Amino acid sequence: MPDIDKRFVQAFGAAPDIIAAAPGRVNLIGEHIDYSDGFVLPFAIKDRTFAAIRVRNDRKVRITSMQRRNKVVEQNLDAIKPGLKGEWERYPFGVIWSLGITSGIDIMIDGHVPLGAGLSSSAALECCVATALNHLFSLGNSLEDLARLTQRAENEYVGVPCGIMDQSVSLMAHSGSALLLDCRDLSTRHIAFDVASSGLELLIIDTQAHHSLTDGGYAERRASCESVVAKLGIPSLRELSLNQLASSRGMLTETEFMRARHAVTEMKRVMDAVEVLEKKDFASLGLLLNQSHASLRDDYNVSCPELNCAVDASLAAGALGARMVGGGFGGSAIALINASHTTQTIAAVEKAFADKRFKAPRFFTSLPSQGAEVIQRG
Ligand code: GLA
Repeated sequence: MPDIDKRFVQAFGAAPDIIAAAPGRVNLIGEHIDYSDGFVLPFAIKDRTFAAIRVRNDRKVRITSMQRRNKVVEQNLDAIKPGLKGEWERYPFGVIWSLGITSGIDIMIDGHVPLGAGLSSSAALECCVATALNHLFSLGNSLEDLARLTQRAENEYVGVPCGIMDQSVSLMAHSGSALLLDCRDLSTRHIAFDVASSGLELLIIDTQAHHSLTDGGYAERRASCESVVAKLGIPSLRELSLNQLASSRGMLTETEFMRARHAVTEMKRVMDAVEVLEKKDFASLGLLLNQSHASLRDDYNVSCPELNCAVDASLAAGALGARMVGGGFGGSAIALINASHTTQTIAAVEKAFADKRFKAPRFFTSLPSQGAEVIQRG
C-alpha cells in the first residue's frame, strides 16, 4: 500500500480510522446490456483506489487526494446534495449522500486506476469510499446494497446515467475469476478466468482517446433501448428473441432495430462465453470478442477510429480476438493474444497508431483481481 497513512496524518493531523481499497475493471464481454437487465462478464483489475477516512466531531466533510497535490475541499454535510457543483470530489460526496452519512469526516484518496481509460476509475473511487464508510459506521449494507447505492450516487448526484456493472464488479469480484453478473437481481457466479495457464495474455490497450459518459451518446443509446421496450410492450430487452425482433421490425425505427439487435446478440454471446471459458476454449472466446466488437461498432455505433485501429492492428498481429470495452467513444480495447507475442503486438498497435497520427496508446496487462476490501482499521 502507498504512504496514504503518512500523508493523511500530514493533511489532517491524526491517523485515519479506516482504509479501504477498490479496483477498476475490464469487461470481458457483455457491453451496453447492464441497463437492459442483461448478464455481463467483467473482472476486476489489479489497479485500485484507496480511501482513508477519519470521523470528525462536527458536520464538516474535508476531502483531499494524493493525485491533486493534497488540496483540501471542504463542505458542510448539510450542503452535500445533488446539484452541488464540483469536480472529482462529487463522486465521494455522492456516496456520502447516498449512504446517508450523518457525521463529519476527513477523507484522503489515493487513486491508482488510470483516469479516462475506460477502466472505471470512477466506480473504484465510489466503491472504496462506500466500503470504508459501510464498515466505519457499521451500516450493514450488503454488497448488492452498496452496488445500488454507489450507482445511485453516480446517477443522481454526479448525473451520469451509468448502469450497475462497474460498481458491482468493483465490489464483488474474486481474484482469478470473471464475474457473471445478472444485472436484474445482482446474483453472481464466479467463472474461472485463467488465460496464463494456456500461454495467453489479455492485453489492455488504452487508446488515449477520451470518452465521457456525460456527452449524450451513452444516454441516447439507453433511450433507444427503452423506446424499443416501450414499443414492444416487454419488461426489458432480455425478454426479446432475435425472431421476435425480426417480426417486430416494422414497429421500430432502423436505429432502434440495430440497437436492439446488438443487445439481443450480446446477451447470447455472454452465455456462450461462459460455456467456452468453462472448457478453456480460448479460440472460441476470441471469436466471440470479435463478434462483440463488430456489433458495438456497426449496430450500437459506440466505437471510434482509435478503438477500431487497436482491434484491427491486434488481429492483424495474430490476436485470437479483440474488442472495445466499456462505454466506448474512446477508452480501452482488449486483445487476447499469445503471451509470447506481447512485444510484437504492442509494436504493431503502436505503429498502426503512429501511421494514423493518433496519440500514442498505453498498454497494461492484469490478472483478474479481488474486489473492494477494508485493508486497515485504526
Ligand atoms: C459504462 C457504464 C456501465 C456500462 C458500460 C457499457 O462503463 O458505466 O454501466 O453500461 O459503460 O457496457
